[in-house]
Amino acid sequence: MSSTLAVPEVFDVPRHVAIIMDGNGRWAKRRFLPRAAGHRRGVQAVRTTVEACVERGVEFLTLFAFSSENWRRPADEVSFLMSLFVRTLERQVARLHEGGVRLKVIGDRAAFEPRLVALINDAEALTAENRRLTLSVAANYGGRWDLLQAMNRMLEANPHRAGNFGESDLAPWLATAYAPEPDLFIRTGGEKRISNFLLWHLAYTELHFTDTLWPDFGSSSLDAAIESYRLRERRFGRTSEQLVPDAIATVPSLTRVATG
Ligand code: IPE
Ligand code: IPE
Ligand code: MG
Repeated sequence: MSSTLAVPEVFDVPRHVAIIMDGNGRWAKRRFLPRAAGHRRGVQAVRTTVEACVERGVEFLTLFAFSSENWRRPADEVSFLMSLFVRTLERQVARLHEGGVRLKVIGDRAAFEPRLVALINDAEALTAENRRLTLSVAANYGGRWDLLQAMNRMLEANPHRAGNFGESDLAPWLATAYAPEPDLFIRTGGEKRISNFLLWHLAYTELHFTDTLWPDFGSSSLDAAIESYRLRERRFGRTSEQLVPDAIATVPSLTRVATG
């Protein structure tokens, strides 16, 4: 459901949580450890967060694991992250499957080694029917890449149509077409930026920034984010008064305004 075409239904627990997992390097540096140690602890935080989301009834969790710009990092860190991805898939997929988690990997796979691509395909096929939680791991993902690949595929599918494409023509080609737009975005690690994550999808998402470094993120951090989300007024362009139409009738001054 597009938040710009229709006002989505809002629930106390966000249906879709999207997280930029940032701060692994700083977590390690503070302990005089190599950055790799921070990334390893980051995988543990992923496990905790997945379990906490399942327990709280979150339906979709999207995690930014490696951006299309992260290739700019030193070669040894990039290759460590790729092998950590391989090892994590090898070790965790069976467990995720038992827990009813559907795994999706979004991003450009062209740059991945064949072994990693095979592991991703197997994991997606194994967990395809699970519906307890859909876990999307964004790897070699960029919001601009997503928009461009979606536009290119949309144009390929409609070779004879001359323009006038709308939102609903594009939506099915986006990498996360199976998920609703994120209700809650979380970025750990203190930076207040989107870093080319879900550019299209965050149009009406509630944003939550925390200084907590990703390896320290746990179920209480998730609860704090959900609590702050609950207190937000999601207006989607409307006024506060429109959100509670019954209140207009019961508050005399508002009744006057509303009836002119
Ligand atoms: C996020 O942690 C993990 C990835 C981007 C892969 P960082 O590695 O960016 O950690 P900091 O920002 O250097 O602390
Ligand atoms: C964003 O973190 C990407 C991921 C968490 C995968 P970065 O640490 O790479 O972001 P910037 O470069 O500081 O914006
Ligand atoms: Mg970072």
